[in-house]
Parts: sequence; C-alpha cells; structure tokens
Amino acid sequence: MQKFIVRGGRRLCGELTLQGSKNSALPIMAAAALCDGDCVLKNCPELTDIYAASRILNCIGCKCRYSANTAVITASELTTTAIPASLMQEMRSSIIFLGAVLGKAGECTVCLPGGCELGPRPIDMHLAGMRKMGADISDYGGNIVCRAHGRLHGAKISLPFPSVGATENLILSAVNADGETVINNAAREPEIADLCGFLRACGADIAGGGESSIVIRGVERLHGCEYTVMPDRIAGATYLAMAAAAGGEIILTNACVQGMEPFLSVLEQTGCSIYSSEDRIYLRCGSRLKALSDRVRTMPHPGFPTDAQAVLMAALTTAEGTSVFEENIFDCRYRHTDALVKMGADIQVMGKIAVVKGVNRLHGAKIEATDLRGGAAMAAAALGADGITEISGISHIDRGYERLEEAVSILGGDIKRV
Ligand code: EPZ
Repeated sequence: MQKFIVRGGRRLCGELTLQGSKNSALPIMAAAALCDGDCVLKNCPELTDIYAASRILNCIGCKCRYSANTAVITASELTTTAIPASLMQEMRSSIIFLGAVLGKAGECTVCLPGGCELGPRPIDMHLAGMRKMGADISDYGGNIVCRAHGRLHGAKISLPFPSVGATENLILSAVNADGETVINNAAREPEIADLCGFLRACGADIAGGGESSIVIRGVERLHGCEYTVMPDRIAGATYLAMAAAAGGEIILTNACVQGMEPFLSVLEQTGCSIYSSEDRIYLRCGSRLKALSDRVRTMPHPGFPTDAQAVLMAALTTAEGTSVFEENIFDCRYRHTDALVKMGADIQVMGKIAVVKGVNRLHGAKIEATDLRGGAAMAAAALGADGITEISGISHIDRGYERLEEAVSILGGDIKRV
C-alpha cells in the first residue's frame, strides 16, 4: 500500500500549472457517449476516477483511449445498456452515465451507488426528473431499471435542491429528448457550465448552463468535437491552502479565477495576500494566519464549496484565534478532523459545526486518509507541521489529484510517495 511521507516546515514557493477539473471531465466523458464521431477531450486529468470512467465507456461499447491528458472517445451504438455493479461501485460519479445511456438508448440499468465516505448520497432527484421526462423506473433488488419507451420527452423540472449530479444527469437525458426541458433551481457550479459548453460544441441547444434556470431543446443528433476541460478549482484551492498552511509565495497558472472567487474571498480574510488576473493567482503568506471572524458555511455555488472545507480547515488549525465551520452539503465531511487532532489541532465537532481553535504548531503523526478532500487536507496540515507525517490511504487522494507529490515538489514541498 502506498503512502505519502511529508517532511513539514518548508515554505512553498514557485509556480504551478493546475490540472484539469475532475468534476468537469467526468460528466463530459459521459456526455461523449451521446455523440456520433470522435470527441477529443484535452486537459483531462490523469486520475483513477478518469480511468474508471474510461472503463465504463469501453464496457458500454464506446472506445475510449487516454494518453498525455487527452481522452479520445469514439461513440457508436451502445453494445449494452446495463452497467455492471463492479464498475458502478468504482466511483460515486458513475451515476452520471445513467442520464447519458438512457438519453441515447432509451433504457439503462445501473445498481444503486449507495452511500459513500461522505455519508448517504441518494439519487431521488435524478430519478424524479427522469420520470417527468417519461422514463419508467423500477428497482429490482438494488438494480435501477429505467426505460423510456422510445425517446424521452421534454419536461419542466424544479429541483428541491440544486444538486450538481441531478442537474448533470437531467441535462444529459434532455439533450436528445423530444421537445424542451426546463430545469429550475439547477446547480450553478462552473462544472455545469463546462458540461453545457461541451454539449453545445457537439451541437446541443442549451441556454443558461451555470445559471439557476437551464433550458434544453432536444436535438436529433450530436456530433463529435475537440474540447478543453476547465481547470480544477478545488485542486487550485488545495494548493493555495497548502501555501497558507506552510507559508510561502506561489503562483497558480491555468486557474479558473472566477469560479474560485467564493474560496479566494474567504482565504484572503485569513491575512494572505492574493492577487489574480485572467487565469493566474498569486498568493503570499508571510505571517501566522488570522482566524475567520465569520462562520465558514458550505453552500451550493456561488457559496463556499464543500470540497474546499477540509483544506481550509487544515490551514486554520494554526491560525491566531478560533474559526467556526458549518458543513451544509454532506453529513460526514469532517472525517479528516481526527487526523488533524492527532497532529495537535484543537477541533471540536458537533453535528454540522466544527470549532477550530488555532494552536501554535502541529506536529507530524501517522495518519490515514479516509476521503479525497480530507486526505488532501492532511497533506496540507503536514506541510506546515513540525517533523514527519506519514499518510496512508492515499488511493483516496489519487482519485482527484494528479500526482499530488509532484505538484507539491514543484512548489518546494518535501513529500514523497513510498
Ligand atoms: C458533486 O457531487 C461533486 N462530485 C462533489 O465533489 C461535490 O462535493 C458536490 O457535487 C457538491 O458540490 C462530482 O462532481 C463528481 P450533489 P454530487 O448532488 O453531484 C443531496 C469531490 O470531492 N442529494 O450536489 O453527488 C446529497 O445527498 C466530490 O470531488 C439528494 O438528497 O453532489 C447531498 O447532501 C465529493 N438527492 C447534496 O444533495 C439527490 O438526488 C448535494 O449533492 C441528489 C443529491
């Protein structure tokens, strides 16, 4: 089993080009199954979740070749509409293939993705929207069988909560449907706008991707295209949080500056100097961070992103004063706190609230990553800590960060994969 060995206490300095966005690339790969002809996806990050998506595409009869951050996907008639449980369970986002396969073939069988390390992850909103578009959906012993009886039809769908996955799945179901679909209270994450940008480049008729109301007029066919996946705003937040935790001066290039604004404005309040231009972010952190006087509330975009909660918390463990977090998106998103406490942090968790009293220093420890962003937070804490930290369970981190140890080393951090 691989581990990261982190020797803390070195300031991070230098320039890093950000990877492409995992959470954008995954739905775009599913969307490519809807197209006739080749889709060439550039800036597609090299991650275990991307390999899992490639395996699903190959399993349903599309050809997916991946090398040098480019995925080439050739879709044709699907050879199966049932995605095996073994592939569905490789990653939670496999559920995004439901909308694509149902939209293309008029039927799809998947097993329930179930809960995950972040707590229960229901898909009721995905299914309710698909039912409104004419799908019959039944549950046979944990397998969800969806049938459209011909083409899905357009519908007016109001989501009870702006779910990212439900919005993506309904867009994928609607692009080839008969007539107009309106999704109200849609998720506004930048990754939704990127998915819509890709689909438009393939000939889809979509207005409002990235806004709370999305209008999709179904078209007969989609064609292939060449598309560049947007930069990863959460990887960006992570490397900035690492520099805030360890101190230093870094520049991120190929950054999604506008999409990162909700994170940047909060990080700036800790005393870091942050300047951004079109696709570059400069951060300098020369002294001890200040705790945040306002509670950090995770919310759907453009609120503070839940995916950046753990890494910001890691940086604030050694801030001057007390910071308070409120996690509003997932039930189990404080699993990193035990490891941070083992490193000397003072964190009290009560339900959705975490109170972080800044301590002077953290120290190295043997800890285990239990989820993707929590694992990245442990690496951030370790970079600022005294001594050596050993992080096991790094397969979680590899799901979302392209060779994290290389990126951190470019910035001068001492981290090795063993
Ligand atoms: C996406 O997950 C991201 N994953 C997550 O990133 C991210 O944390 C999340 O959006 C929120 O921004 C990908 O894009 C692949 P949701 P998703 O549907 O789509 C509830 C990471 O670290 N809900 O917006 O699963 C749900 O339980 C990952 O990269 C329902 O109740 O998130 C949750 O509490 C982790 N019923 C909330 O909504 C539904 O039908 C938000 O979930 C759907 C969701």
